[in-house]
Amino acid sequence: AAAKAPAEAPRGRTSQDDVAEPGAVTIVVPTFNESANVRQLLRQITESVPSRLPCEVVFVDDSTDDTPEVIREAAKDCPFPVTVLHRDEPVGGLGGAVVEGMKAATSDWIVVMDGDCQHPPSLVPELVATGERANAGLVVASRYIKGGSRAGLAGSYRVAVSRGATWLTKSLFPRKLHGISDPMSGFFAIRRSAVTADVLRPLGYKILLELAVRSRPREVAEVPFVFQDRFAGESKSSAQEGFRFLRHLVGLRTASPVARMVGFGLIGLTGFVPNLLGLWALTALGMHYVPAEILANQLGVAWNFVLIEHLLFRDRREHRRWWDRVGRFALLANADLVLRIPLIALFVHRLGMGALSATALALVTTFVLRFVGTEALVYLP
Ligand code: GDD
Ligand code: MN
Repeated sequence: AAAKAPAEAPRGRTSQDDVAEPGAVTIVVPTFNESANVRQLLRQITESVPSRLPCEVVFVDDSTDDTPEVIREAAKDCPFPVTVLHRDEPVGGLGGAVVEGMKAATSDWIVVMDGDCQHPPSLVPELVATGERANAGLVVASRYIKGGSRAGLAGSYRVAVSRGATWLTKSLFPRKLHGISDPMSGFFAIRRSAVTADVLRPLGYKILLELAVRSRPREVAEVPFVFQDRFAGESKSSAQEGFRFLRHLVGLRTASPVARMVGFGLIGLTGFVPNLLGLWALTALGMHYVPAEILANQLGVAWNFVLIEHLLFRDRREHRRWWDRVGRFALLANADLVLRIPLIALFVHRLGMGALSATALALVTTFVLRFVGTEALVYLP
């Protein structure tokens, strides 16, 4: 646990040449097996954070190696308090770790940075000073503004992926990410008062994106930085992390009920693919098309269920056992088919609608019923 809290910073003096007294800062560093890097990182922080800037460092560690011991040993040479929070249950990956660290922070400002020296600690005072000067809640260290670059992002493949992901993300959240050129950056400063920890649902690497979308501080500033080479070891990112990122994006985009309904519809549309493939395969095997369609429909239902579970309702699965959810979901999906015919008949005979518009209205009605039913009967307590 922490030895002592950093002293209160003198406040109120925020002129351009007064970068040295911007308010206290807690540096949050997520680590996963970085024993070869943490000593160097603490040395760099010691060298670059002026003694006038009260500072503490909080490591949130999910390592399986001796990183915590190495940190505690190196901390003895540091002029500021160093805390290691080791998590035995590493929920949320990197982002989950950062949120833990932010909850433990005691200073006005929180700077989040990687533990592998790719983020230059010399920028910490400037990030905080810029935030004070601009009266911003969030200051992003960006690779994509003048003076910044990504020297440490090796390989054209990774550069292309990074660019594509940034473009996709910015187009999905044009308003929330306005003024943020590098929403994928893992290096930023945020005011502790701007962190709405209870609404955060971190999932993997992109914790800045999570904060920008769900906490969205009003004023945002940026500072350029050069993404350095790793001091030692290799990136902990993987293809699995890529899928996690996509799930994170969908989760953020479908936070509101209306957006969730749109997502539900889109997933439903993709369900036609396995449905039609199944129908094709079964009839090719000689099955009559009616039982074939009933069976093939179950394929589409299964496909939809898996996507909906992992993309739309990943936070709401705890109320029922999985087989209970499968059963209810399948029941609703098939009731949809059964309900459609009498509904069309009702619209035609009672409301005097044409067959086509009656069918369209029935499709929309059963879709909305299925969405509402799925929310209420499968994923609510
Ligand atoms: N506690 C914890 N738990 N820390 C983790 C975990 C985890 O599951 N996974 C990774 N980390 C730590 C690493 O130990 C390192 O200190 C930091 O998070 C960054 O991990 P890297 O594996 O080095 O990330 P990267 O270099 O590929 O990506 C960095 O740059 C990207 C921009 O190109 C990160 O800052 C990304 O967030 C950023 O998007
Ligand atoms: Mn790294």
